[in-house]
Amino acid sequence: MPLVTTTEMFKKAYDGGYAIGAFNVNNMEIIQGITEAAKELKSPLILQVSAGARKYANHTYLVKLVEAALEETGLPIALHLDHGDSFELCKSCIDGGFSSVMIDGSHLPFEENIALTRKVVEYAHDHGVVVEGELGRLAGIEDAVNVSAEDASYTRPEEVQAFVEGTGCDSLAIAIGTSHGAYKFKPGQKPQLRFDILEEVARRLPGFPIVLHGASAVIPEFVEMINQYGGDMPNAIGIPEDMLRQAAKMAVCKINIDSDLRLAMTGTIRKYLAENPSHFDPRQYLKPAREAIKAMVAHKIVDVLGSDGKAE
Ligand code: G3H
Ligand code: 13P
Ligand code: ZN
Repeated sequence: MPLVTTTEMFKKAYDGGYAIGAFNVNNMEIIQGITEAAKELKSPLILQVSAGARKYANHTYLVKLVEAALEETGLPIALHLDHGDSFELCKSCIDGGFSSVMIDGSHLPFEENIALTRKVVEYAHDHGVVVEGELGRLAGIEDAVNVSAEDASYTRPEEVQAFVEGTGCDSLAIAIGTSHGAYKFKPGQKPQLRFDILEEVARRLPGFPIVLHGASAVIPEFVEMINQYGGDMPNAIGIPEDMLRQAAKMAVCKINIDSDLRLAMTGTIRKYLAENPSHFDPRQYLKPAREAIKAMVAHKIVDVLGSDGKAE
């Protein structure tokens, strides 16, 4: 099966009250762990590539690895650019075989965000590719984006209709209290999401797919593993999974997960090397890391996203 866009996936997910997992990929083991879980559970998938991932692994390697996953699984898979920050980057991914791109103009003034997003949409739609836009700013740190809690802002529901109509985008990422990375809430702060904003956005955009970034749970098992085996991640805290499940039942059709993959991989490798200090063959520690990713993604598909069996 060739790559698919997210159009059909999101329509079914919206109507069925579940979400599609959008997992960040950087290398072969991550792609294999994710896609093996999805294959066993017959789940549709979005594999997403950031500018940093593209720089690290090379565009062509990532596209070819995803093509291998398509062949191995037979699943509907979309290949998506995560946090595109310019028309040129989006164009390069569209020209280079991606089926979906995000243009993240969330840091721009409203009208500039609309103009940039519309430019990407026009090029993408001419090439059969779908586009995710973003309104509102998440806090958190990634390679390309570093937003302090003070600069973060919730999406304003009164702006979403004008944005979607003005841009023609196919899905919309909104800010309701999630954030990027492993430190989503301050110590002692109660994790909370603004479901009232999500509801109001959904009311104003009936049937329109909404995206949640920064949606890792920062699974405590892996944080503990990292801390137990020489790491130092005090106060790492994520979004409670029951809140994500609730969002998936509402208008949220795409849930982005990167940090949980990183934690699963790093925790497992730390443990393996601590327990086997004389081993030096990368296959020995990458194998359990890939298995941990597979088990973690299977858990997300069944218990958080509800997308199991939906690729049938
Ligand atoms: O939200 C972005 C992802 O976590 C990608 O992170 O830019 O470090 O690859 P990255
Ligand atoms: P996390 O850092 O919560 O995994 O978020 C990932 C993300 O939003 C990728 O775009
Ligand atoms: Zn993101």
